[in-house]
Amino acid sequence: MARVAIVTGGTRGIGEAISLALKEQGVAVAANYAGNDEKAREFTARTGISAYKWDVSDHEACLAGVEKVAAELGPVDILVNNAGITRDGTILKMTYDMWKQVMDTNLGGCFNMAKAVFPGMRERKWGRIVNIGSINGQAGQYGQVNYAAAKSGIHGFTKALSQEGAKMGVTVNAIAPGYIDTDMVAAVPADVLEKIVAKIPVGRLGQAHEIARGVAFLCSEDGGFVTGSTLSINGGQHMY
Ligand code: CAA
Repeated sequence: MARVAIVTGGTRGIGEAISLALKEQGVAVAANYAGNDEKAREFTARTGISAYKWDVSDHEACLAGVEKVAAELGPVDILVNNAGITRDGTILKMTYDMWKQVMDTNLGGCFNMAKAVFPGMRERKWGRIVNIGSINGQAGQYGQVNYAAAKSGIHGFTKALSQEGAKMGVTVNAIAPGYIDTDMVAAVPADVLEKIVAKIPVGRLGQAHEIARGVAFLCSEDGGFVTGSTLSINGGQHMY
């Protein structure tokens, strides 16, 4: 029987590439998304991967979403916590809502989803959880106290949860992408982005599939001895 995976934010950007990489690896993938129905329909038509709509910042919705996927595809073996948003601004301009939305989605979503899948993974003595952190959670970034705090939290969350899963066959790892060619990065003002790219030793933005291959490895049978680790994929921009 194929392994079953949920990829949050799995219909666009890095998440789409992860959904595809896992499918190529023979995994039955459920791609979660929160808002963009049209993109999700296009994604399913193009890839044959089913899309499931719920908001990862909503605890009850995560429990219900995981139950639905389990009923339709089977028990969830792999969780990729990829869903994330930005609400950038210096702290002078950042509202409490901008802080809370990012914390609830980017970090709260990891808790909500892990809480829903972890008991089953432990019972079945096999599981893979990959959390998508960020270079900006490692190094900080001007205008991102919310995002950097949430992503930094993901790295701590990963190390703590990995200790709870290790003896039960459940690995928990993080990937810290640098600046990847996605809609999220395209939203950075062009002059700011130009300065950022100039500081990337590899000399370009990353591509979503370059993150996805790392995720696919961590989710594979061969990844069983890797846990509690963070893989930085950032073109050399930050060496951690
Ligand atoms: N270091 C120091 N000063 C900086 C700075 C930096 N990195 N970036 C901007 N500034 C300064 C500017 O020079 C300007 O200074 P002056 O007023 O003296 O000219 C000032 O900050 C601008 O401040 P404002 O309050 O006017 O800021 P703003 O509202 O115009 O925009 C910003 C600020 C929203 C942070 C904008 O600079 C921005 O979008 N920066 C990019 C943030 C970023 O990298 N986000 C990543 C998104 S992608 C992602 O997050 C994915 C991932 O995981 C990598």
